[in-house]
Amino acid sequence: AALDLGDHPDHMAKEIEEQPAVVSSILERVARRAVDGSMWIGLGLPGFHRLAVVACGTSLNAGHVIATALRGIGGVPTDIVVASEADQVVLGPGTLVVAISQSGETADVLRALDRFDDRHPVLALTNNLHSSLARRADAVLDCHAGPEVGVAATKTFTAQVVVGVAAMISAMVASGRIGTARAAALVAELSELPARVEHAAPVAADRIPLLVANVRKASGFLFLGRGQGLAYAAEGALKLKELSYRWAEAYPAGELKHGPLALVDEGTPVVVVDHGEHRMQANIAEVRARGGFVITIGGEGSDIPALAGRATGGLTWGASTAPWGPLEAVVPLQMLARELALQLGCDVDKPRNLAKSVTVE
Ligand code: G6P
Repeated sequence: AALDLGDHPDHMAKEIEEQPAVVSSILERVARRAVDGSMWIGLGLPGFHRLAVVACGTSLNAGHVIATALRGIGGVPTDIVVASEADQVVLGPGTLVVAISQSGETADVLRALDRFDDRHPVLALTNNLHSSLARRADAVLDCHAGPEVGVAATKTFTAQVVVGVAAMISAMVASGRIGTARAAALVAELSELPARVEHAAPVAADRIPLLVANVRKASGFLFLGRGQGLAYAAEGALKLKELSYRWAEAYPAGELKHGPLALVDEGTPVVVVDHGEHRMQANIAEVRARGGFVITIGGEGSDIPALAGRATGGLTWGASTAPWGPLEAVVPLQMLARELALQLGCDVDKPRNLAKSVTVE
């Protein structure tokens, strides 16, 4: 069934579309156990004072989101470790390592764990319970995404975020850092995600082909985000690189004026993950004033009037204040990358030079 495309033109389209259902089924499994702390307690791990995420690629971006949520919810310090750079890292006492890997076979992640001191417990978050990572870890969380065929990860990202955030909520309840009322409110907010994704997808499907037609010839793309939106900007840029073979760089929007603004010229595409952070409007204005072609993803829409004769495009569905940021933005970002790839004649399921699972360091 995993290989059965049904009515879908490609696996990526199918896997993008499956995301609301994936999120719903995860929440059915974990919602109650996140609120009462039993999801965490069932893992049998000791308490922790610090969290270190170890991962590569899209899983690393999911780790950014999970770490951001944990800081926001429980005030727990976090480290983000690029797996191939793990030998540069010193983990503090009381650090829980969360190794995130869709395949559970990524060599960089497995080698990173070899480099850490055995005193640090390892929690694996993976889509493959029979993987080397699952065997190596002290506890395992299944991300329950179902088989993903497209080489560029889509639904596994979303599943990792939802399972990881639910586990962190559960850990915060179990350790007494938050009460069950707060946990219940957070899980209720998580439960809005399927509807938020269902809402964002048609807005994106409607507008993206024309937006992409405007930027198809561009050689490079900037992606901007702030705070909780930043990891999604990074994931959007990664998807675009993987699928369309165009340069794409994600930046914290505040850094724009410290360098990347020099890249912005007439028609330069700048994709803005806008989750309602008020300073973003000024950044959008800076780009527009230089003739940049702004594509906003989310938010309330720009309150700066479009300058005469300058194209712009926005996908608007309101602010997002969740500690895990605008997860629904990932769907339009995936669709944007896929549409650009298709308009450029690229194979969206099997991008050149890339493999679904990389088992060499
Ligand atoms: C490869 C894939 C990426 C993926 C990364 C990490 O590079 O092409 O899509 O994000 O590996 O994979 P993992 O299985 O560890 O999540």
